[in-house]
Amino acid sequence: MENNLKNQIYLLTGGTSGVGKATAIGLAQKGAKIVIISRDARNAEKVLNEIAQRTGNERGEYLVADLSLQSSIRKVADEFKQKYDNLHVLANLAGKLSFEKQITPEGIESSFGVNYLSHFLLTNQLLDILKDSSPSRIITVGGNPSFIKHAKINFDDLQSVDHFNGMKSVSQAMYARVFFAFELARRLQGENITSNVFNPGVIKSNLTANAPWYMKILAAFYKPFEKDICEIGVYLATDPDIQNISGVFFNDKKQIVPFHEEFDPNIGQELWAISEQLTNRKTVY
Ligand SMILES: NC(=O)c1ccc[n+]([C@@H]2O[C@H](COP(=O)([O-])OP(=O)(O)OC[C@H]3O[C@@H](n4cnc5c(N)ncnc54)[C@H](OP(=O)(O)O)[C@@H]3O)[C@@H](O)[C@H]2O)c1
Repeated sequence: MENNLKNQIYLLTGGTSGVGKATAIGLAQKGAKIVIISRDARNAEKVLNEIAQRTGNERGEYLVADLSLQSSIRKVADEFKQKYDNLHVLANLAGKLSFEKQITPEGIESSFGVNYLSHFLLTNQLLDILKDSSPSRIITVGGNPSFIKHAKINFDDLQSVDHFNGMKSVSQAMYARVFFAFELARRLQGENITSNVFNPGVIKSNLTANAPWYMKILAAFYKPFEKDICEIGVYLATDPDIQNISGVFFNDKKQIVPFHEEFDPNIGQELWAISEQLTNRKTVY
């Protein structure tokens, strides 16, 4: 894949900040054509200029979408397919940390929507072009393995609306992304499209920009360790050695953590069925 990198398109959600931007910079350094999704055209242009100055790669482009809204996700997927004729890597990297329950006009809790359901819907809306472009890859941001090993899905309150708690909601969405990535891999067996999930490590981020003071203090401790290139994201998106590896969790130093052996596939299937209902997106694979 790496030899063809310049002719292939890499679509990243969250490409303006944090894990998405850090992956976009690394891919741009390698000469890839990146397309980032942002809510804000001016922000996307600013970040793409910064990436171009830093890497010399001026081929980056953007699309505008609000990933908390399914109508916007459907629209941006259609726009992508009208504008581009291939998609080799979809990187599901957007996220947010919110301390208030927010129900969108479509009736979905926004934190759950952005942090998990958007990945499910965008992936499914783009699956046809990923298939047409195969071999292709879907990579999804997970989180720190020490949290993920305790993964639990509360199906009684999947969107955390009964007793909203920002950290709990973010954790549940993180667990959901891992189950989603594994279930996606299971469904894509034989398709030449891989699905993996990963811990990005400690990446420079805006996630705690609106967090309470105590969380900002905690975040400050991580500052000296923050990276502005997400090497594991770039590796998963491009490395030929892992072209056929699917359905696994990668830690930030490129090692596989055998969570796929521990995660109950029945939970992944139940989550998939509920996600289909919540997005009104029946899948046939
Ligand atoms: N940073 C880390 O070290 C780290 C470690 C482990 C896991 N993670 C996980 O990675 C995910 C992203 O975190 P981050 O650190 O990259 O956060 P971040 O720096 O705050 O970046 C968030 C990105 O998501 C996009 N986004 C947020 N809401 C959106 C919406 N409604 N529609 C479209 N795009 C939206 C933002 O784009 P616009 O503002 O341009 O729209 C931005 O590019 C989170 O789930 C987090 O838990 C991060």
